[in-house]
Amino acid sequence: MKLDDVPRLSLGFLPTPVEKLERLGAELGVDLSVKRDDFTGFGGGGNKVRKLEFLMAEAVAHGAKVLITTGGHQSNHARMTAAAARRFGMKPVLVLRGNRPPQFQGNLLLDHILGAQIDFLDPEGYFTQVKPLMQQRADEAAARGETPYIIPLGGATALGAMGYVSAVRELADQYAALGRPAPDTIVAPVGTGGTVAGLLIGCALYWPRTAVVGIAVSGSAVPFPERIAVLANDGAAMLGEARRWKPDEISVESGYVGPGYAIPSDDGNAAIMRLARSEGLFLDPVYTGKAFAGLIDGVKRGTIAKGSRVLFIHCGGSPALYPFAEVLTRDAGA
Ligand SMILES: Cc1ncc(COP(=O)(O)O)c(C=O)c1O
Repeated sequence: MKLDDVPRLSLGFLPTPVEKLERLGAELGVDLSVKRDDFTGFGGGGNKVRKLEFLMAEAVAHGAKVLITTGGHQSNHARMTAAAARRFGMKPVLVLRGNRPPQFQGNLLLDHILGAQIDFLDPEGYFTQVKPLMQQRADEAAARGETPYIIPLGGATALGAMGYVSAVRELADQYAALGRPAPDTIVAPVGTGGTVAGLLIGCALYWPRTAVVGIAVSGSAVPFPERIAVLANDGAAMLGEARRWKPDEISVESGYVGPGYAIPSDDGNAAIMRLARSEGLFLDPVYTGKAFAGLIDGVKRGTIAKGSRVLFIHCGGSPALYPFAEVLTRDAGA
């Protein structure tokens, strides 16, 4: 199946802009650009809108009336999925990792405004309980005569990966229109790996000389290169493409997680301050701040060559700035 034949519904404000970051690029010594996927628009925007265009097409075709997914308290994916549910007349159900907080902030507040039914799971038991609980909510919906549809964590499926295959096609068109050569390296955060899997397939198709570097924002029981290889290989197979990846061909830097998933890191906070103060651009402490810290350090260490063309995928996430006001205020002098 060709990309244009994969069923898709329009949700995002696409194409998103590509901006050159002249000032910070000059400081770092690279030709730096950013793909503004924080401006995909729908439901507050971010990378998951691209995946949801494909996943919602399947959910609607399925006749879904209840849309179920999971993530952390500050999951942008959960927020955008809840918004997409509402757009297509479905009830959003979220199973979130973390106990019920006294006050809802950031993405969690937006989930509440969207009227999502929220189950909070203690982090201790999360990984054993999340799938059974999502299935239980699906069974309850089915018993009421409402067809359920479950989107797994991060929308990380071969179908969801089509979002970033099509993002690379969009980028290749934008660069061609501007007469710019393709970037040497694309840098993106890795939460579940679906975005990087899509970028790998997209680059194989449209930018074959461009390398993709993922920056992990959490640990993973199964190493990220293995998870991403499965998604990329399934996605390529879906498109009838022969390309396959071995885990050792997939570059994921794991040194920028800091204290853990969704716990701000010093480097990530410094990257947030640096980008805001040099370019007026907001990152977030869970995903993009840590990923940009990896980009800065990669240039410093020489794994990203001086003078090369670097494209950062800004995956969104700014609602998660607000719940971390205290730590970010403390670090404001950084
Ligand atoms: C802002 C932001 N960046 C990056 C990611 C990670 O994307 P992926 O799960 O495709 O690796 C997410 C996922 O929720 C996100 O919300």
